[in-house]
Amino acid sequence: MRFLVLGAAAGGGLPQWNCGCPNCRDARSGKIASATQSSLAVSLDGQVWAVLNASPDIRAQMMGCPSMHPRELRDTPLVSVLLTNGDIDHIAGLLSLREQTPFTLFATSEILGVLAGNPVFNALNAEKVSREQVEIDRPFEILPGLEALVFPVPGKVPLFMEGDLVRTDLVGEQTVGVRLSDARRVAYYIPGCANVTADLLDMLGDADQIFFDGTLWSDDEMIRSGTGTKSGLRMGHISISGPDGSIARLAGLKAKKTFIHINNTNPVWQPDGPERAFVRAQGWSVAADGMEIET
Ligand code: MLT
Ligand code: MN
Ligand code: ZN
Repeated sequence: MRFLVLGAAAGGGLPQWNCGCPNCRDARSGKIASATQSSLAVSLDGQVWAVLNASPDIRAQMMGCPSMHPRELRDTPLVSVLLTNGDIDHIAGLLSLREQTPFTLFATSEILGVLAGNPVFNALNAEKVSREQVEIDRPFEILPGLEALVFPVPGKVPLFMEGDLVRTDLVGEQTVGVRLSDARRVAYYIPGCANVTADLLDMLGDADQIFFDGTLWSDDEMIRSGTGTKSGLRMGHISISGPDGSIARLAGLKAKKTFIHINNTNPVWQPDGPERAFVRAQGWSVAADGMEIET
């Protein structure tokens, strides 16, 4: 399995248009690399691709990847798109894929419902882009020879659909992880996860490679940095650090582990910072745009 990180950042990207935090300033000045919004591409042969989450930046992301360029007049090596939730950073890119070239769009019924509830997505011609409903725990072929399966992970409804009372521990079809397997290897992609439950930990036991929610370093990061009022938990994202954080919770796994969907406030973006050194020492890598990982 060949993975290409199209976008390593969480919603907003790095830098985020309205943010003057230290990371965003460093990205603007070129001191650290910029990153586009959340998306991962996967291929077996480098010829045809599936894209996991359609980021608002997908046009530039595909442009930067020669093996995803059209091979003839109107064409794409993109075979399918799979959505793991209905957040803007994962669905808005569909609007850029509207130019009458066929691909298959896979999502759970709840996530398809988000699209159905927003008529702007009718811009995707249903005769060309078939919306295939996937069922929890039922395998399907996302690419020829590559099996995918979605499973619930703790999360919440999309930000733009939140009501007055928000549950952040929903386990259902609104937030899913993806298990990918070919004949030899198993990989997981979980860009949004509020908590590592015993079930989830159990499931990840067979992983060779895991791409995991790296949104925040610490739960109060946005509050302390003055960039927001919400905790990580309230946003539906487990933190990297701390006794209940993802590093601690996933420590026993044999897989190679990579943080992805990283918020612009996260100190792990700093390549020479102590947080990056700590993550590395714990056996994790940090995704970057254009990073290729083969498993
Ligand atoms: C998230 O991952 O929490 C969302 O992308 C937030 C957002 O839509 O801005
Ligand atoms: Mn997001
Ligand atoms: Zn920022």
